[in-house]
This record gives sequence, structure tokens and C-alpha cells, in this order.
Amino acid sequence: MKNTSEIIKWNTMNNEKRLDQEYWDNQYKTNATGWDLGKVSPPIKEYIDTLKNKNISILIPGCGNSHEAEYLLSQGFTNITLIDIAPTLVENLQEKFKNYPNIKIVLGDFFEHKDQYDLVIEQTFFCALPPTMREKYVVEMHKILKAKGLLVGLLFNKTFESGPPFGGSKAEYEQLFKDYFDFKIMETCHNSIAPRANSELFIEFKKK
Ligand SMILES: C[S@@+](CC[C@H](N)C(=O)[O-])C[C@H]1O[C@@H](n2cnc3c(N)ncnc32)[C@H](O)[C@@H]1O
Repeated sequence: MKNTSEIIKWNTMNNEKRLDQEYWDNQYKTNATGWDLGKVSPPIKEYIDTLKNKNISILIPGCGNSHEAEYLLSQGFTNITLIDIAPTLVENLQEKFKNYPNIKIVLGDFFEHKDQYDLVIEQTFFCALPPTMREKYVVEMHKILKAKGLLVGLLFNKTFESGPPFGGSKAEYEQLFKDYFDFKIMETCHNSIAPRANSELFIEFKKK
């Protein structure tokens, strides 16, 4: 697992570069991945442990090193798709998962992805996007989910001086998602990693 100071460094990093493919690829090329927990995020692991149907279609957008996908695989899930915009990362993932046909890896932009899924797992993808893209994220997420599909994961419930990550609040998310999703769960996580304690909301949103 990454040490606490690396994660905090990412959480407070002041970076005003454009958050495009080149920016993200460079983060992987230079190992500047302070967001990476080095293991499946505990709240997401706990959620995965409640899922009975291992054949649902699952998407992890902005997947990064995909510790959540490794965990899903270990639990017997059969239909996992990863998408990320960073070619260096995707090349690594293709190597890492080359013997696992249950994982499909897409190099591309989430906002141009066309398939539909039962479940999308959110883990520091939303907060990595410029806040001006949030409404687009909600519309796209709604489109990419099948009827009654679920968006599940973590959103920061705090503000940062600058981003990424870009913070937010429960009130903001309620306003943002309410026309497209029913809120099954949106509450402070009880099992965040220590550096993120009391600053994450666990969400389970159902497509309207
Ligand atoms: C902060 S990282 C989080 C990675 C991973 N979810 C984790 O928690 O370790 C954000 C990720 O989103 C990817 N990304 C940014 N914009 C994207 C886009 N439009 N489409 C797909 N991936 C994107 C970046 O390349 C990066 O891997």
C-alpha cells in the first residue's frame, strides 16, 4: 500500500496544467500516482462482497492501476471492463491482465464510450475531472448504465485548495445527480483509509 504522505501529497497538489491525455499519461510515466491506494479501496471491497450475481457487467472508468478489478477477479466476477485515457497505464494493464479474459481493457475517453453496464464503480475518477465537466459526467453516467443500473463508489466530501483532486459536498452532489439518479445511499464512509477518513461519501445511485 502507498504510504500516507504520498496520498496526502496528491490530495494537496497544486497543478494548473490541462487535464488531458498527455497530462495523465505523464503521471504514469513519472510514477506521480499519489492517489493510488496500492490495494482495493476498503469501502468498495465491502460493497463488492455484498454482490450475489457475479455475471453483471461492470465498468471502472478512469480505472488507474485497477486494484478494484483485481479484487473483482479474485471473487469470480466474469464481466469487467476497464477504461482509461492514459496509454502508458493501459499498456501496463494489458500486460498485467493478459491471462484474464473476464477483463476487457479499453484505451479511450470515458465520454466517448458507447457500451452499457449494470454497475459502474467510481473511485477518484469524478474528482480528477475539471469541475466544469461534472454535469457532462452525470449525463454520460446515466447514458452508460442499463435500466436500473447502479453507480457505486466514493466521492470526496471536502474542498481542496486546488485540484486534482477537486472536492465537493453532499449538497452539491444532490443537486447535480437528482434529475438522473435515485439516491439509495450517500453517507460518510465508516471504513475509508486513514488519510481520507471523514472526507469521503459512499454512494449507491440508481439510474432513473
Ligand atoms: C486520479 S486517477 C484515479 C485512478 C484510479 N481510479 C485509482 O483510484 O487509483 C484518474 C484516472 O482517470 C483517468 N482519466 C482522466 N480523464 C479520463 C477520461 N476522460 N476518460 C478515461 N479516463 C480518464 C486518468 O488517466 C487516471 O488514470
